[in-house]
Amino acid sequence: MKAFPKDFLWGASTSAYQVEGAALTHGKKASQQDIINKDNYQKRGFATAEIASDHYHHYKEDVALMKEMGFTAYRFSIAWSRVLPDGDGEVNKEGLAFYHNLIDELKQAGIEPIITLYHYDLPWALVEKYGGWLDRKVVKDFENFATIVITEFKDKVKYWTTINEQSIIVQFWSQKCYIPEELKSKDQLRFQINHHMNLAHAIGCNLVHKLVPGGLVGSALGYAPIYPLTSKPEDVMAAQNANDLRNLYYTDIYFKGEYTKSAAIYLEEHGLAPVIEPGDMELIKSGTSDFLAINYYASECAKACPEGETLRFAGVNWTGVKGAMDGHETHPGFYKMCKNPNLDTTDWDWAIDPTGMEYLLRDLYARYGKPLMITENGLGAYDTLTQDGKIHDDYRIDYLKKHIASMKKAMDYGVEVLAFCPWSAIDLLSTSNGVKKRYGFVYVDRTDDDPKNCDRIKKDSFYWYQKVIKSNGEELD
Ligand code: BG6
Repeated sequence: MKAFPKDFLWGASTSAYQVEGAALTHGKKASQQDIINKDNYQKRGFATAEIASDHYHHYKEDVALMKEMGFTAYRFSIAWSRVLPDGDGEVNKEGLAFYHNLIDELKQAGIEPIITLYHYDLPWALVEKYGGWLDRKVVKDFENFATIVITEFKDKVKYWTTINEQSIIVQFWSQKCYIPEELKSKDQLRFQINHHMNLAHAIGCNLVHKLVPGGLVGSALGYAPIYPLTSKPEDVMAAQNANDLRNLYYTDIYFKGEYTKSAAIYLEEHGLAPVIEPGDMELIKSGTSDFLAINYYASECAKACPEGETLRFAGVNWTGVKGAMDGHETHPGFYKMCKNPNLDTTDWDWAIDPTGMEYLLRDLYARYGKPLMITENGLGAYDTLTQDGKIHDDYRIDYLKKHIASMKKAMDYGVEVLAFCPWSAIDLLSTSNGVKKRYGFVYVDRTDDDPKNCDRIKKDSFYWYQKVIKSNGEELD
């Protein structure tokens, strides 16, 4: 095995509404996630974003823990409604000051900030004003927000990602965006939102190129490689269809500035295609990406699907009981997703597949030849705090170890990977399962019902990752 490059970035990731807390204080107003999560609390007992991991008040302690682990990078997002509480108009100076302080603290600790401009948390004011991402007006407002943030931090931040996981937003749109009940059956709007995000992404790329000296920018995409259920040609074809609609439909936009033809034709024929206005594709083509950030947790499996089936999007496991996933994405005549019988899963039914990491990295690099970075990867699990204050998360260590080894294999075959930033630096509020589903290297002592003091406790994985980083990836065991 060759060594990791000397300047390889080791770190981890979070997103604003999932860690910060202070959701309605210090000048910040609600984002759509504050509203969605309040509803989740009432319906399912999952914590709200109001306190989350209280990172707003613990950021110094959190950065000190990252430094102790040896991080050289930290990926986090900026909450739009902390900077512009109403989505547009007055800037909240206290909000900008928080991010300046955080970035300065990181830089003093030798940690490179990787900023995500948008991670699901649109200001609620813009939802009230015109429906949020459903309306094209949001693109102008995003441009204004991105211009403020990029101008503010351009001298401190080199790496930028635009929009988190457009592919996942399409699949789980009513968790990631506030969608009024009466629109929930209008599936074309999923792709319309995505089109607006493509415009915003291109604008974000252009702004970084214009404003940030030496700045690099790309999208952060939720990416799952897709295997055919069997070697029957119709299943192999279905897996290709699924790859076209679930993956290439995004990456072709980022790197070629065009929608993948097969997927676009399928959407057109099924009344799902977005409305594209004159000039849109030119704008999209102009916003070139320097790299792609990948969020990889699980691979997926597809099989042939007869025309007569009913259209549906991805299922969710709300309970954390294996096998409770409430359905699979189905595109009649194109593909149907299904469980891969060859892979074990997490308690939330996400297939555990380290080989998928090498497969996707090699595939993407062969297609586009652009540098890649891992901005999410990790195991959502129930952790137990022992009587003597320890968390023995050997299952997480095993998961990450195998995924790093697989990423390294891809690198040994020539793939350029810039960073490994798994999910998550510290425990945080899951997007779909409250705080009981944990990902962090640092345990945050709270429950869904009781935020307690959010004390930080180092897990076994903390010490393991510290060794990995110290040895620049040589010591995985
Ligand atoms: C990614 C998101 O989809 O997966 C994160 O970018 C999210 O925000 C992570 O937390 C894990 O998903 P979940 O639903 O387990 O929180």
